[in-house]
Amino acid sequence: MLLLNQHIDHRAPMVVADTDTLSAGAAREVERFLRHRTGHKETPLVSLSGLAREIDVGSIHLKDEGHRLCLGSFKALGGSYAVIRLVLEEAARRLRRSVDGSDLHMPEAKAVAREMTVSCATDGNHGRSVAQGAQLVGAKCVIFVHSGVSDERIAAIARFGAQMIRVNGNYDDSVLEASRVAAEKGWITVSDTSWPGYERIPGFVMQGYTALLSEALRQLSAPPSNVFVQAGVGGVAAAVAGHFSVLFGENRPFFTVVEPSRAACLFESAGPASLSRWIMDNRR
Ligand SMILES: Cc1ncc(COP(=O)(O)O)c(C=O)c1O
Repeated sequence: MLLLNQHIDHRAPMVVADTDTLSAGAAREVERFLRHRTGHKETPLVSLSGLAREIDVGSIHLKDEGHRLCLGSFKALGGSYAVIRLVLEEAARRLRRSVDGSDLHMPEAKAVAREMTVSCATDGNHGRSVAQGAQLVGAKCVIFVHSGVSDERIAAIARFGAQMIRVNGNYDDSVLEASRVAAEKGWITVSDTSWPGYERIPGFVMQGYTALLSEALRQLSAPPSNVFVQAGVGGVAAAVAGHFSVLFGENRPFFTVVEPSRAACLFESAGPASLSRWIMDNRR
């Protein structure tokens, strides 16, 4: 099923805050931070030449994020980067001087981090990255999971020392509960889903993902004509579309978001289903 995006904002210019968040300079900064991380290396861009031949296109490449930062999740870059940024910001505020990624291991920065608690809701991926980032900087971390999250996924987050809280209900219920408890306790919500008035921190999460795009562009011989990306709660997809829009403007690639056909977020963001559905049903 192909659903054309007819949302009222489609093709509208990006707002300045978003172009700043996803700028080329911000992407360079993210890569600079990554260089401070032990064991970090670029992920492979795999050429799917057989598939490209089969469907008669020039080339297809897959950016394989599976091994990023040894996390076993495609969202390794965003959550941990946001946590590191927030700790550095707080350290700079308290120490009254600029604090850089290379200062993270200084006792003063560690002392600031120890007093901070970061928190979020997750289905398993984003929370794993937040927990990894918190462990790296020495901050406390509390991760909320809904009833459907498996014990294996919980263990994959808890191994970074995060406290885990089970919430009855679905993912949306866990997001609400996480932000309610965080507000009550004075924790910092590091969510990859945003809502009106809560956009700055999800912006850091999105900024973190730009590193995979910078790498992919270096690994390719020419910028791509088409980009296919999963959306979920939207952070990865928005980072990809936004950063490439900033870099390439009108010459940006054609973006296709690939989602299960019943994904509510897809229908919400592509416009009212009754107006926007232009469907080519390719299902056999
Ligand atoms: C339907 C749905 N819920 C929740 C999430 C959040 O997943 P996670 O917390 O594992 O990154 C996603 C993925 O972005 C998703 O597609």
